[in-house]
Amino acid sequence: MCGIVGYTGEKAALTPVLEGLRRLEYRGYDSAGVALTTTKGEKLFVEKKAGKLANLEAELNDSHDNSHSGIGHTRWATHGGPTDSNAHPHLSNDGKLAVIHNGIIENYLELRAELEKRGHKFTSETDTESVAHLLSDAVTKNGGDLAAAMRAVCNELRGSFTLLAIHSDSPERIVGARRNSPLVVGVGKGENFLASDVSAFISYTKSALELGQDEVVDVTPSGVIVTNLAGKVITPRAYEITWDASAAERGGYPHFMLKEIFEQPKSIADTLLGRFTENSQIAIGELDNLPELLSAERILILACGTAYHAGLIGKYAIETWAKIPVDVELASEFRYRDPVLTKKTVVITISQSGETMDTLMAARHAKSLGAKVISICNTNGSTIPRESDAVIYTHAGPEIAVASTKALITQIIATALIALYIADKNGALKPSEVSGLIEELLALPAKVEQILETAEPLREMSRGFKDATSVLFLGRHVGYPAALEGALKLKELAYMHAEGFAGGELKHGPIALIESGTPVIAIMPPQRSELREKMASNIQEVRARGANVIVIADSETVIPADVHVIRIPVSNQLLQPILAIVPLQIFAYEMAVARGSDVDQPRNLAKSVTVE
Ligand code: M6R
Repeated sequence: MCGIVGYTGEKAALTPVLEGLRRLEYRGYDSAGVALTTTKGEKLFVEKKAGKLANLEAELNDSHDNSHSGIGHTRWATHGGPTDSNAHPHLSNDGKLAVIHNGIIENYLELRAELEKRGHKFTSETDTESVAHLLSDAVTKNGGDLAAAMRAVCNELRGSFTLLAIHSDSPERIVGARRNSPLVVGVGKGENFLASDVSAFISYTKSALELGQDEVVDVTPSGVIVTNLAGKVITPRAYEITWDASAAERGGYPHFMLKEIFEQPKSIADTLLGRFTENSQIAIGELDNLPELLSAERILILACGTAYHAGLIGKYAIETWAKIPVDVELASEFRYRDPVLTKKTVVITISQSGETMDTLMAARHAKSLGAKVISICNTNGSTIPRESDAVIYTHAGPEIAVASTKALITQIIATALIALYIADKNGALKPSEVSGLIEELLALPAKVEQILETAEPLREMSRGFKDATSVLFLGRHVGYPAALEGALKLKELAYMHAEGFAGGELKHGPIALIESGTPVIAIMPPQRSELREKMASNIQEVRARGANVIVIADSETVIPADVHVIRIPVSNQLLQPILAIVPLQIFAYEMAVARGSDVDQPRNLAKSVTVE
């Protein structure tokens, strides 16, 4: 949930460390801090400040040209409020060792009590500070070897963590460790990097190393040594990053979210690329070694937040096309009940980051119960795909805004591809039906482009709703999870009450919320759907009670009079959410801007939720 970066090389370390923090700020922005090694054996230079990175930068009026190794941290607070003293790095009492941390040390209270008995003085309320004190003792016990000390300390810790540490006695060295939280190595020429995510060092190198569970990495300008916690040397998987720094920049847009909304046609096209053969068959080689999928009697989709909505939408396509029953469950709920999974159940996890702790733990739980796990993920080499039996990568490119947009759209595409893959292989659909649906998928980038090109009236209208106190979203069938997503986007971005309802449920309670002027956004099923008339009735019901209704409908669907209309292109009904969600994203974006909220870094949130 926090962002972590480390640099060691010839450059003045502060520059790459701050650049890394800028790119990782989406992971948390309650406070930020840096630690730099100075002269061997002297105290470290440390600066940390509550609030956004800009507060820290304002304090840093020296470029520290003589410091060539350093670490930086941007925090999403868990243990202890967002104050200067709780900001990372945390230091040993002699000021020679600094630690930064992402995750939660679950046994920190016992460790702290023990360390206080041994005379260590604590200056924060964090779980992390115990690690700094433990490490400082372990360095002494291990003859100054920071990597050996880190291995010894990790064996004492419970919970999830990425840790980076520096010590002024080895000023060129950074030592990292990971358990359940992300850490990657960037390999440069005469310089190396450590970070929560490759975007931190993408402008310096595209060569990366993936670290596994319970591994410790010892980095100097000339080398990277990875070991397990017993000290055995491991060869990490090396990979090249396929996108460049400009993908992680705003590129002239006022916010990353707007840029990412406008990138959706390309993200869809990239995710579809290479997925069809010349004779209109689905090609997902990643699934060919998983025969359990084709013989599955049930599919269970596990995910959180927006990714959960992708799963709810994907359920319709898998059931309709592949004829396999699908359940969709919040990953955080799945793990803590007693789920019944048989060998004929295949689990699909959906996660943009591949690091969401709830989803990771749910996937492990499913595996421990004997299920095969397929992951849909946007982040190469992240933990969930590493631990899955098969992975389908979405190709949305880096998503920096906290609110998920293009990742969601590509997740829905991935579920549709899985549905078609099964239907094609199992003969649940005729070849002509499969090729018709492939045509539908291939037409989506242009259709989303059309929505974006004609979005100006929607953008203006959305701003007109800025003083609303509550917005309701209505949908039926696949439109229902789209309505849930519309409400989530508005809550997280514009900080206002918003709820999504199934149209049929309105009369069972939610209609009591409607009063004069309440904005209601209704997603209209296509003209040919038997649900069109039902939704038209729901719209009349809320209009009769004074609601101010916006209808999202395709261009051939007849809609009730006296409502605002947003037109989207005609598509297959099961794919319609891909189009209907785009105006909902724009609505939430414009409302957030008009209400003065921080679009890319909404309050209290972080992009990757790496704690349970
Ligand atoms: O990285 P993941 O896809 O696993 O993240 C899941 C949710 O935390 C994420 O979708 C969250 O709901 C977003 N803030 C929604 O915009």
